Amino acid sequence: MKRISVFVSGNGTNLQRIAEYFSGNAEVEIVNVVCNNPKAYAIERAKNLGIPLRMITKQEFNSPEFTEEMKGLDLDLIVLAGFLWKIPSSLIQAYPKKIVNIHPALLPKYGGKGFYGEHVHEAVVAAKEAFSGITIHYVNEVYDSGEIILQARVALDEKETPDSLAAKIHQLEQAYFPVAIEQVLFRR
Ligand code: GRF
Repeated sequence: MKRISVFVSGNGTNLQRIAEYFSGNAEVEIVNVVCNNPKAYAIERAKNLGIPLRMITKQEFNSPEFTEEMKGLDLDLIVLAGFLWKIPSSLIQAYPKKIVNIHPALLPKYGGKGFYGEHVHEAVVAAKEAFSGITIHYVNEVYDSGEIILQARVALDEKETPDSLAAKIHQLEQAYFPVAIEQVLFRR
């Protein structure tokens, strides 16, 4: 049995898709959802999906106790699905090459502090980039800079807006994130 924890901060569309994708796979279990934002719709999704929810404060998140708690879950993978806090080194060391993140741009461009959500698409559109896309990567101590697992790209139209680009990126996330997770879990 492959055991996954999914960390969320927002809407939870990636959580939803991942849970649905693996719902038919008896070898994969989403053990819990870790959430740092009491307003996140991902909380509703976790409840509707019947997945245990672990709300977390910033202080708890950065404590040695939380790393011990996560180690105790004996996870095969931690999936960051729109999680906005930097992962503490202790957790990265506890789960080397077992934490993955999805970023809504083609890293290394448009990554790092402040580049999240709409801000990313606004910057890409303002720069009149020909392409954008998603990057799924391992998490290390530096924001958005771990080894890349998968990138998928989409062309920007003449009249692309941040909202229209966000919709295209969302489609790529829904299509590729679960597949990338499956590849990492089963090293396909
Ligand atoms: C996605 O755009 C993802 O690329 C980024 O944060 C967003 C999460 O969306 N990391 P959701 O909470 O999964 O809907």
